Amino acid sequence: MATINDNYLKLKAGYLFPEIGRRVSAFAAEHPEAKLIRLGIGDVTEPLPAACRSAMIKAVNEMGDRETFQGYGPEQGFGWLREKIAAHDFQARGCEIDASEIFISDGSKCDCGNILDIFGDNNSIAVTDPVYPVYVDTNVMAGHTGEVNEKGEYAGLVYLPISAENDFTAEIPSQKVDLIYLCFPNNPTGATATKEHLKAWVDYAKANGSVIFFDAAYEAYIQDPALPHSIYEIEGARDCAIEFRSFSKNAGFTGTRCAFTVVPKSLTAKAKDGSDIQIWQLWNRRQATKFNGVSYIVQRGAEAVYSEAGKSQIRALIDFYMENARIIREQLTTAGIAVYGGINAPYVWVKTPQGLSSWDFFDKLLHSVHVVGTPGAGFGAAGEGYFRISAFNSRENVNEAMRRIVQKLMA
Ligand code: MLT
Repeated sequence: MATINDNYLKLKAGYLFPEIGRRVSAFAAEHPEAKLIRLGIGDVTEPLPAACRSAMIKAVNEMGDRETFQGYGPEQGFGWLREKIAAHDFQARGCEIDASEIFISDGSKCDCGNILDIFGDNNSIAVTDPVYPVYVDTNVMAGHTGEVNEKGEYAGLVYLPISAENDFTAEIPSQKVDLIYLCFPNNPTGATATKEHLKAWVDYAKANGSVIFFDAAYEAYIQDPALPHSIYEIEGARDCAIEFRSFSKNAGFTGTRCAFTVVPKSLTAKAKDGSDIQIWQLWNRRQATKFNGVSYIVQRGAEAVYSEAGKSQIRALIDFYMENARIIREQLTTAGIAVYGGINAPYVWVKTPQGLSSWDFFDKLLHSVHVVGTPGAGFGAAGEGYFRISAFNSRENVNEAMRRIVQKLMA
């Protein structure tokens, strides 16, 4: 008799975003006249930059010509894209990252989960609370946790609470952990990390032989020039960190799919026999076996992100969403709500009013003003009492959603 991976049975009922989708669909079916505004899932709304589109059209035409047709590409990604990433995203910021350390993929979410393939099953794992749910759920699926309690915490994980009291940056743990997930600018709180904060993590990881999984999917939203965009801006990070990056949020590739993961060749972890094994070599082997790369057409589109035209079009996209974030912050503050984030990140993290639970506030906004956000409790127990509002939408929808919310809250 075939059996299943029982770890899946430990997962809470649904992944956060499908659960929101389910509630929203049920509401929409009952109220087809309601004009819903979705500020829940962080999905982009504005069209792809023209530079990326032209590059992809050219690539489609190359695929139609025997002379320029491409079959399988390298599993790690095309050299011309990896070179551009290394030069623009890392070397230009003083980070010592080589093109061969960059692995192109179809998404950071996939890579964050897939990376667990090459790490052992006995690592102690730390996540912040609240946290992007993928880090937790993929560890549950891999059997790295025990059961979930009524607060939504899984036995065996080390939760590092983040709240307004610690500026939404976790304290360095007192115990030893092997794998640490960090996300800056942070999803869901919109918080950022200073170089000093990241330096403390790098020092901790080096002292304990830990590996940091650094998710920098939102780095393009950093406005403050003093803030680091990459963990490799911190000395020593090459020896203890893997970084996840994406074209989803800067160039609007959520539907186009292209991202990359940086695995420095100097990063090692222990084999059972105590020997030091290069992580790069394992990830390279994993990708070559389980992945056939991102399409040539999409990689050409991603390459155009680094052209002069691409850079200025992306700047305009980010400015657009950040103006939405500013409007959200301003309007909610006027309505007497405490807001965090939204200054160097496209997410505004809101304290729910009148002590409402985060799902109650979700239902209240959905039913009374037809606006969808994300309940903080969906990101972890410490997210209870908070609510995330995404700045990814049209200006018209953001203005309208804020008008409805403020009117309701001030009534
Ligand atoms: C979110 O809303 O948190 C994002 O959509 C996450 C993601 O990009 O997977």
